[in-house]
Amino acid sequence: MSNNIESHQVENRVFKPSKEFAKKARVSSMAEYKKLWKESVDKPTKFWAREAKELCWQKKWKEVLDWKAPHAKWFVGGELNVSESCVDQHAKGKRRNKAAIIFEGEPGDKRVITYAQLHREVCKWANVLIGQGVHPHDRVLIYMPMIPEAAFAMLACARIGAVHSVVFGGFSADSIADRLEDSGAEHIITADGGWRRGKIIPLKDNVDAAIKSNASIKSVIVVKRTEQKISMKKGRDHWFLDLEKDVSAKHEAQAFDSEHPLFILYTSGSTGKPKGILHTSGGYLTGAYTTCKYVFDMRDEDVYWCTADVGWITGHTYIVYGPLAMGVTQVMYEGAPNQPDFGRFWQMIEEYGVSIFYTAPTAIRAFIKAGDHFPEKHDLSSLRLLGSVGEPINPEAWMWYRDKIGGGRCPIVDTWWQTETGAIMITPLPGCTPTKPGTATLPFFGIDAAILDESGNEVGPDEGGRLVIRQPWPSMTRGIYGDKSRYKKAYWSDYKGIYTAGDGARRDEDGNFWIVGRLDDVLNVSGHRLGTAEVESALVAHDAVAEAAVVGKPHEIKGQAIVAFVTLKGDHEESPELLGELRNHVGNAIGSIAKPDELHFTPSLPKTRSGKIMRRLLKELVETGDISGNITTLEDFEVIANLKKKLGGK
Ligand code: WT7
Repeated sequence: MSNNIESHQVENRVFKPSKEFAKKARVSSMAEYKKLWKESVDKPTKFWAREAKELCWQKKWKEVLDWKAPHAKWFVGGELNVSESCVDQHAKGKRRNKAAIIFEGEPGDKRVITYAQLHREVCKWANVLIGQGVHPHDRVLIYMPMIPEAAFAMLACARIGAVHSVVFGGFSADSIADRLEDSGAEHIITADGGWRRGKIIPLKDNVDAAIKSNASIKSVIVVKRTEQKISMKKGRDHWFLDLEKDVSAKHEAQAFDSEHPLFILYTSGSTGKPKGILHTSGGYLTGAYTTCKYVFDMRDEDVYWCTADVGWITGHTYIVYGPLAMGVTQVMYEGAPNQPDFGRFWQMIEEYGVSIFYTAPTAIRAFIKAGDHFPEKHDLSSLRLLGSVGEPINPEAWMWYRDKIGGGRCPIVDTWWQTETGAIMITPLPGCTPTKPGTATLPFFGIDAAILDESGNEVGPDEGGRLVIRQPWPSMTRGIYGDKSRYKKAYWSDYKGIYTAGDGARRDEDGNFWIVGRLDDVLNVSGHRLGTAEVESALVAHDAVAEAAVVGKPHEIKGQAIVAFVTLKGDHEESPELLGELRNHVGNAIGSIAKPDELHFTPSLPKTRSGKIMRRLLKELVETGDISGNITTLEDFEVIANLKKKLGGK
């Protein structure tokens, strides 16, 4: 772990929520926030139980929390069906004919799905899955475009107690194969394809490639979307259109234990193998619901839009489970933000009257670059609240978001959280928290966040340290699927009984948390986590490559760009063709987002005398063009001199 946790950013601009917003908000003063926060961390079980009660339980819990660090059980003995809170309660009640999902496909096709329709769809999907022999606890891999069927499929899994594992549609066949193997999923839900920048992403073809020699796959259910020709294996592959003809649109939701597994979602860590982050039912839903209520201030009359993909945790918590548990109307969009041009989002906000908008800094930076004339063409006055997630937002992007999109009147909630935390952890509350551009501000209710030094002491104002959470919370991960020891080692080994997030941070004198970035070998590319080790192992899997080292470099739009250093095997020579081939090779192994932005061939890599690659030096070199630190442990000084020349340094 690097000790280099410094941040020199000084930001004195403070923006308070308007009186109007505060007046209607659920928490409308800092005094109230402070009081509630203190109560909620002094007695977390009391706070969370009060929130959990607002969900549908078929059987009430006996005990709110059973905590044997690092293992938590929440709402012990309670039983619920997650899809009942998200679907049935609204379909059977006053929201019956309210729009749950307003969908727009990239080509411009539109659909509105009411809560009653959502109920029928989820029931049909549940019956189809049962018909394919899916049982509670079975893992189902979902590889879908951003279409309503992705949400139907997830909710149907939840409804029958199956465990979904959604794989982002931009990931490759190899990534699917790895996740199938790790999760042991025998059923796959996919589509023929999805639309992205006017082109078809060949989802079914990728699935075919991933399971070519996999005999354990029992069924592949295919949704028709792009309608190009695909191959269907008899007996194994089925069109959903055919299967749904034979099933009823009614399904009784059976209750499952509060700790019943809900989903596995893979995310990058510091080794080459992605971690299958496991989430369970009652606690996760409580976290998703409670944060939607307080952080996004969701109301019945809101139109909410989160631009994430369901392939990421943001899509799980803030497209599927949280907003639907709240019974809100939301917009779902299939494609790219610049299709046909960078006005697409603003046009949709205007058309649907979006009031709450949640997106990522990388998108905001791309919009800034594209030009103000895109948002200026549209009436964005329906917006009342803006959110940001995925990486630290730079103050310039924050200010632009506030002024150009929020018209200077919408509070911005910069939300810090992780796949592992399940729900938002550090965030402003829109009706009360004074915000500063670039900080996620203060911990949410029930969240005991702190910054510790190496010996476990809390650091002083403006001192850097490791971001930790000192108390369990309901939506925390229950572990890494199939790897108990890695869970302990990755999150609970720095300090006893305390969760380490892997981020470096500091607090300013007002107590605001400023996230500096990852402390491990994890990159954040366009708000998505990628392990340097994953990219490296993809590179060395290529015939020509002997060794590889990957580091991140600041990038104007993506936040971080991927820079790879590669040594070749004796019988291979560097060439622009090989460079292109290696980049594509990584794209095929992981997905396009993992393609190195820069790739440098080098005769050798800087190593310590014990043979460890010194990524720290490479990082400094790509960032500054020079090396300032101590390199006495370096085995071969020549290596650095050569690389400096290569990168155009002194
Ligand atoms: C990592 C988690 C949580 C959904 C999206 C990413 C970084 C996330 C922020 C923020 C500063 C942030 C952290 C974190 N991160 N949100 N608002 N400010 N950094 O989920 O893929 O699990 O990545 O993203 O480094 O550890 P994820």
